[in-house]
Amino acid sequence: MAFPTQVKIVEVGPRDGLQNEKTPVGTEVKLAFIDQLADAGLQVIEATAFVSPKWVPQMADHAEVMRGLRRRAGVRYPVLVPNMKGYEAARAAGADEIAVFAAASEAFSQKNINCSIAESLERFEPVLAAARADGVAVRGYVSCVLGCPYQGEVPLADVVRVAKALYEMGCYEVSLGDTIGVGTPAKARAMIEAVAQAVPVERLAAHFHDTWGQALANLYAVLEMGVATVDSSAAGLGGCPYAKGASGNVATEDVVYLLNGLGIETGVDLEKLAAAGRYINAQLGRAPASKAATALAAKLA
Ligand code: HMG
Ligand code: MG
Repeated sequence: MAFPTQVKIVEVGPRDGLQNEKTPVGTEVKLAFIDQLADAGLQVIEATAFVSPKWVPQMADHAEVMRGLRRRAGVRYPVLVPNMKGYEAARAAGADEIAVFAAASEAFSQKNINCSIAESLERFEPVLAAARADGVAVRGYVSCVLGCPYQGEVPLADVVRVAKALYEMGCYEVSLGDTIGVGTPAKARAMIEAVAQAVPVERLAAHFHDTWGQALANLYAVLEMGVATVDSSAAGLGGCPYAKGASGNVATEDVVYLLNGLGIETGVDLEKLAAAGRYINAQLGRAPASKAATALAAKLA
């Protein structure tokens, strides 16, 4: 058991953070938010999702977001892709890195992407093949790794099976999503232990939502097991429209404060990050969900 010396943060605010927001957020606001996140030192920023605008209206401007990106050297801008249609649209808009997303729960797969787990994996095959031919890196997500809003408990064997399938299909990294934030540290640890039998731990990412206030504790538990990639959202925004009641992702500000305290490098400037979080919150008319951002604002006031 040893903490990694460096952690890669995958900032999912512009995608997971905004996808569930009912009020349309302007493309320029999204682009300014992405710029501020890059300014803060984040090197992987999930920019948008090439999903159906009927299913997720907030991501309808995906092509405009991609075309409007003020790309920085050293920053990657992956996008979600559910099928070939999404892949082609993402590529046409200039995406050079993508993420496919599956679930460990059959019920959630149906609600979220309107097909079974097996069908989703079949749909990803041509996407992965095209990506390989185009030199596009593909990340894979598994949702509901610690519980499902429809099915409740999700057997660990199902999580392992889907993670393994994505890895074997060619995903360079598998992000394990506690979509509804129900996990606790012992459960998170057991889940990583099981998945790491099939996918090397250095290829795993933790994607924890904070619905029950456990995300940081869960992260601490899995960091100690060698997980060195963490997905988080500035200001703790986020939630899946097809996971009712789920709250935001763990806040990037809180993750950075935790990692700073552990002496783990992230390359992220906490003050600039908190400013990005304040910016998007002001646009949405929200108070920060991040404790670290709140504490920092009080200190600066
Ligand atoms: P469907 O209705 O079964 O698709 O949806 P279809 O193939 O039958 O097509 C129906 C219509 O959608 C057609 O248009 C297609 O052209 C269009 P129409 O003829 O009706 O005008 N369509 C598309 N349009 C744009 N982009 C596309 C696309 N594909 C088809 N890529 C589909 C299937 C997968 C498209 C739909 O269910 C969908 O878009 N779902 C996305 C749901 C979503 O984005 N959820 C949130 C992201 S996942 C998440 O948040 C979890 C994560 O954070 C990890 C965690 O926390 O666990 C990653
Ligand atoms: Mg999520």
